Amino acid sequence: MTRRTIVILPGDGIGKTVLFESLRVLDAAGFQAEYIEGDIGWEFWKHEGDPLPRRTIDLIEKYHTGLFGAITSKPKEEAAVELDPSLHDKGFVYSSPIVGLRQYFGLDVSIRPCKSFTGNPLNFIRRGKDGKIEEPRVDVVIFRQNTEGLYSGVEWTNPPEEVYQAFMTHPKFRKNFSHVPREELSVSTRIFTRKATEHILKAAFAYARKFKYPSVTLCEKPNVIRETSGMMYRLAREIKEASYPDIELRNTNIDAQMMWLTKNPEDYGVIVAGNMFGDIVSDGFAGLTGGLGFACSAQFNESGTAIFEPTHGSAPKYAGYPESIVNPIAMILSACMMLEHLEEHTMAEKIRNAIAAVVAEGKVKTYDMLKLPGKPDVLSRGAVSTRQMTDAIIKKISLI
Ligand code: NAI
Ligand code: MG
Repeated sequence: MTRRTIVILPGDGIGKTVLFESLRVLDAAGFQAEYIEGDIGWEFWKHEGDPLPRRTIDLIEKYHTGLFGAITSKPKEEAAVELDPSLHDKGFVYSSPIVGLRQYFGLDVSIRPCKSFTGNPLNFIRRGKDGKIEEPRVDVVIFRQNTEGLYSGVEWTNPPEEVYQAFMTHPKFRKNFSHVPREELSVSTRIFTRKATEHILKAAFAYARKFKYPSVTLCEKPNVIRETSGMMYRLAREIKEASYPDIELRNTNIDAQMMWLTKNPEDYGVIVAGNMFGDIVSDGFAGLTGGLGFACSAQFNESGTAIFEPTHGSAPKYAGYPESIVNPIAMILSACMMLEHLEEHTMAEKIRNAIAAVVAEGKVKTYDMLKLPGKPDVLSRGAVSTRQMTDAIIKKISLI
């Protein structure tokens, strides 16, 4: 097996805990790699005025693959207060290193699989026609455009004259908003480019084919947001016709999709959406399959740089516990996504099967799986620690 170099980015809080737990699991599955630690997060903001130092960017640029825990992020004003006094008034302004990474590397494709594990007490259940409780198996993989749309930050309150005049050229703006004083106007733009839209759509179709999903569902709102969602729908049809005639293209509106996901989540496979709708729909499906303790993700760019990370944050309130109680599965599943990216499918499968076996057996559960409030006493109330959950998964790997 090739020995790889992986840039590990533990970050802050529980990110530091779960990341190293996932390395133990990778090791147990036989993955051989050199891990180089990259500095990222709150400590580097406080002491250097940069939560994403240049040396970390250089490492990722060199090695292309990052495994990331989580970071702490705070509003600009709070960040300024916590900055080391020697760095005050030197022009340092806090900005999120996650957004920084995404922008620097153009990580425009975000993937969030939401798959239920049989026996997970956090799985979505519903009442069936005969009144019986049903637990549909959810196996959804969401492709979210990660760099554009409503989150691209092109926005104004009290827009400058030239922007205002440009809006005034649009008949609908003139009709509905020209009577509003300019200083009372806030505008956030939703910009889609053809290139990035095609990239996310093609990534979704390619994944559907590779992993044998029969359909790709575009989740937007083309009947109302005619230009951006409309372009995405048009391109989706073109890509399907040109290269994926065997894969069904479905089209849902984000609002209806949010209702349907609590009625028939088993009917969806690969879902693709723009930035904000992808964000919304992926949190929705994650809630059906175990929530933050289970939600993994990956971000890619066109030239193969990829970062794998749990969806959750640094959960600072748990970071100082003498024995960590958080669920490491989201992080471990993110490491599995990394293995898949490196074409180590057998190892990824082995780890997933081990997690599935632990969950199905139902003996080893972290506090979230027991639906306990997160407090230090959970360990005396039947919950296992982060380390014990990892140990249980590693033990299963050795038996598979
Ligand atoms: P969070 O995801 O850190 O925690 C929210 C709650 O989710 C926790 O209190 C806990 O109840 C639960 N939770 C999170 N991870 C869990 C796990 N592995 N197992 C079991 N339960 C888990 O989000 P929060 O509290 O909004 O943000 C905390 C910090 O993290 C903030 O500074 C925020 O900016 C940052 N953040 C970072 C992210 C990242 O690094 N990707 C993503 C989200 C938030
Ligand atoms: Mg979100």
